[in-house]
Amino acid sequence: MLIDLENVQKVGFVDVPVDPTLDLEAEIKRLKKEKNAVLLAHYYQESEIQDIADYIGDSLGLAQEAQKTQADIILFAGVHFMAETAKILNPNKKVLIPDLKAGCSLADSCPPQAFAQFKAKHPDHIVISYINCTAEIKALTDVICTSSNAVKIVESFPKDQPIIFAPDKNLGAYINKKTGRNMLLWNGACMVHEIFSLEKITKLKVHHPNAKIIAHPECEAPILDIADFIGSTTALLNYTVTDDATEYIVVTETGILHQMQKKSPHKTFIPAPPNNNCACNDCPHMKLNTLEKIYLALTHEQPEIDVPEPIRSQALKPLLRMLELSK
Ligand code: 13P
Ligand code: SF4
Repeated sequence: MLIDLENVQKVGFVDVPVDPTLDLEAEIKRLKKEKNAVLLAHYYQESEIQDIADYIGDSLGLAQEAQKTQADIILFAGVHFMAETAKILNPNKKVLIPDLKAGCSLADSCPPQAFAQFKAKHPDHIVISYINCTAEIKALTDVICTSSNAVKIVESFPKDQPIIFAPDKNLGAYINKKTGRNMLLWNGACMVHEIFSLEKITKLKVHHPNAKIIAHPECEAPILDIADFIGSTTALLNYTVTDDATEYIVVTETGILHQMQKKSPHKTFIPAPPNNNCACNDCPHMKLNTLEKIYLALTHEQPEIDVPEPIRSQALKPLLRMLELSK
């Protein structure tokens, strides 16, 4: 067998060549069946990964799916905090991630030690954390939320309850505005959602006057102020299906456009431009995952995610609370 050295994939601790003649889709399908594995994928994954996933969804949908799966192995085509969430919910299952380096700038913007000190300064506050955070932050949290249930979770507390919201200041500010609260915000943000250019989006709108601007709440306030609709990735997708416009400027990571286009082939979806000429509206972490790495992860059953105790059981409580409140 010829080994294509150019095609050598680095996956966690394993350096293994992938035979370039392999039908990766068929191999992944075979391995999933053989090992009773489920492939969960976030909407920001490459189209070819979305197309072979058993479930594609937003962070809430993925957590719910991870909670109810009967599979022995969960292969998480997403980023580290998502796979960690699946492991927190399933300590006895094997949770794999195609590339261990698939992190998240938002999760990284909230280091546990600094956050613990911040929390200690506000003992009367409860903590609501966006799911885009590490297991350590979840362990310091009272209830987790995602962008699809954040308003509901915040409103489940009395209006006079002091709240720390972490780690996304943009989502926090959006919820504050929507609910009339004054939550204390951790100063974190997502590198992808902060890169969109208000000026370029406004210019784009001039050329596409009938296009609706739809945005993820991780975007900065001036972008959200001009949006026709704001929601999680699933909410944005559903909106484009039920809404009667035919053109949309989509202000979130570009991966979601694949499902939008699939569900509404007759509509036009324009990815909102970043503020420079890079492809910064692609999440560099999400895009580390490839079909080759998924194949290798299933073959070697690594890289595996582990969440040590007592962090895991401490992080489980706020997660279960969120899942209960989201029913
Ligand atoms: P949702 O899919 O939950 O909207 O989250 C978006 C995101 O940034 C995930 O990393
Ligand atoms: Fe993290 Fe932003 Fe990438 Fe989502 S899009 S994984 S929040 S860096």
